[in-house]
Amino acid sequence: MSVTEHLQAPAGTTPGEVTLPGAFAAVAERATSDPEGFWLDAAQAIDWDVYPTSALDDSAAPLYRWFPDARLNTSYNALDRHVLAGRGETTALIYDSPVVAKSKRYSYSQLLQKVELCAGMLAEAGVVAGDRVVIYLPMIPQAVVAMLACARLGAVHSVVFGGFAAKELAARLDDAGAKVIITASGGIEPSRVVEYLPTIVEALALSSHTVTTVVVKDRPEVAGSAAEYSSPGTEWLDWHERMLAAEPHAPVSVAATDPLYILYTSGTTGSPKGVVRDNGGHAVAMTWSMKNIYGVHAGEVMWTASDVGWVVGHSYIVYGPLLAGATTVLYEGKPVGTPDAGAFWRVVSDYRVKTLFTSPTALRSIRKADPHAHLAKKYDLTCLDALFLAGERLDPDTWTWATALLEKPVIDHWWQTETGWAIAASPYGIERLPLRAGSPSFPSPGYNVEIVDDAGRRMNAMQEGHIVIRLPLPPGTLSTLWRGDQRYIDGYLSAFPGFYLTGDSGFFDRDGYLFVMGRTDDIINVAGHRLSTGSMEQVLAQHPSVAECAVIGLHDAIKGQKPAGYVVLKSGADIEERVLALELVAMVRNQIGAVAAFKEVTVVASLPKTRSGKILRKTMRQIINGEEYVVPPTIDNVEAIAVIVATLATN
Ligand code: COA
Ligand code: AMP
Repeated sequence: MSVTEHLQAPAGTTPGEVTLPGAFAAVAERATSDPEGFWLDAAQAIDWDVYPTSALDDSAAPLYRWFPDARLNTSYNALDRHVLAGRGETTALIYDSPVVAKSKRYSYSQLLQKVELCAGMLAEAGVVAGDRVVIYLPMIPQAVVAMLACARLGAVHSVVFGGFAAKELAARLDDAGAKVIITASGGIEPSRVVEYLPTIVEALALSSHTVTTVVVKDRPEVAGSAAEYSSPGTEWLDWHERMLAAEPHAPVSVAATDPLYILYTSGTTGSPKGVVRDNGGHAVAMTWSMKNIYGVHAGEVMWTASDVGWVVGHSYIVYGPLLAGATTVLYEGKPVGTPDAGAFWRVVSDYRVKTLFTSPTALRSIRKADPHAHLAKKYDLTCLDALFLAGERLDPDTWTWATALLEKPVIDHWWQTETGWAIAASPYGIERLPLRAGSPSFPSPGYNVEIVDDAGRRMNAMQEGHIVIRLPLPPGTLSTLWRGDQRYIDGYLSAFPGFYLTGDSGFFDRDGYLFVMGRTDDIINVAGHRLSTGSMEQVLAQHPSVAECAVIGLHDAIKGQKPAGYVVLKSGADIEERVLALELVAMVRNQIGAVAAFKEVTVVASLPKTRSGKILRKTMRQIINGEEYVVPPTIDNVEAIAVIVATLATN
């Protein structure tokens, strides 16, 4: 369905064929009617080693590949070409760290030099095109350098967020088959220092795969260095020493379809899924989105307050801004507590940020600490042009608060690790369309979004259903799952043949605005972090006193959702509920990581189930969150629902 169809839907009907004037409608229409021509045109913004003559390879549908005959290097496009164009002195990266009280600028020339040396260092460690390198780093410039150095060699990076525990890291090392890990002595959280090296050693011991080299950036603030650690079969190197000894490395030409990175994300089962992003489609989509969605151009400052461990960080801290020749800000701090809720406004003002991108959770935590925005008023925010939000649903209340505070467009946009860029957004760089509270506006050009019911029938405006995207997905989206073509097909492409299943439900209103209401599966979103309740359940089930369990996402005023565990004890289990809760919380923290924020456990007599034994997690979630619910007719033990309601009433 085209955007022009969505833009005016007569009440109660399928959106009709209405062509609206306006720049956005024209762009979206072209992307729908001639996707190959549209993306070949967009490809002109990239410097190719071999220019694409065809846009799409559909020979292995439902798996598609963009720009099958083209070659390029992503780091060349992000760095060298700006330097060669005489923009070497432009600031590429601003590192701002309230936790170590540092601020530093890197020009494009300086960043290029570091990336050339890091690529040389990796090459010396035996890394060649196609090898996998795991990056486990806090928000320091070395993270950006390491990612671009991998891209320079044609190696595939996989960044793992620092809040994940050794077991999760080991699962990613194994699945990716990593040759090298790049890490640091640790990260700094407001409340504590997080030493990374013991986690690395533990992950290497848990992993069944041998990593040949660990490179450690020694941070003076955190104990531990390469010299103090060892593990069988692995060489430990010091970042600083090896960078001094390294020879600069030239960019390696790769096929547009070759993988640039793997980014693991939570699935509905316990094992994480490696989303694969290619080089060519990604470079084209990033560059297109910087201009057309964010309205950010070369020399302008974009700050994405996320973490390089998440897709938002990959796309809009690192690749998007640098491919566009813009200046990006790498902020090692929190929205509150480093030192206060004015931190974001300070950064915007200090670096004259034009476009800020963060999560609704971050805004809610700022609002809680500074409801009347007294701290914001201390800073000159006139440089700010727009605020973009994603990672979870932007509740209308937060949208209204931020809009009143900034008096600038506050733009919700909806996307996923899998898509790498916005499925729906207001096309700020193309046209300033009116925003609507609770909606990420319209499908982005290239995404043909539909709402269908369980049987795959297209639904009318205002009717909620599964949000699906007609295949092929546009460039920059996942090409497959790492070593998992079939898993990709089974998990995303089989429910509704010809469509990609987003896993979100939602509806179009009568004017074609999309509303994304929540997940239809067991994924929850805690403080903008995507987590699998299934993986938490796997951990709880290991406890000797637990017979069965369910983890549900409860509504949380700041974090959006928080996980809560409901456990049934084995008969005869002799353990105090308080002790059990402490043990289960510690198990989740040790096996998944602090980022899971798992803190609540309730013992219940039984869990509601269907006759086939499936736990009714959705019904539980609705009861617990005080939402309307319908008990499915196939329910086995209706009394379990009453028990849960009663248990909650007493909590
Ligand atoms: N390394 C190690 N531990 C980390 C970590 C990291 N990179 N990031 C978070 N953690 C830890 C925290 O220290 C905390 O540990 P604790 O239980 O000992 O306190 C735990 O993981 C949970 O962290 P978090 O969910 O971040 O909660 P918080 O109370 O520390 O902070 C917010 C709340 C809202 C300030 C914070 O979650 C935030 O900034 N969220 C925005 C997230 C975001 O930008 N997501 C990207 C989507 S666009
Ligand atoms: P992640 O892969 O971590 O980016 O999480 C993707 C999921 O976060 C989506 O499938 C949605 O459930 C949710 N999400 C992200 N952005 C939004 C948004 N703007 N509105 C509603 N949900 C969102």
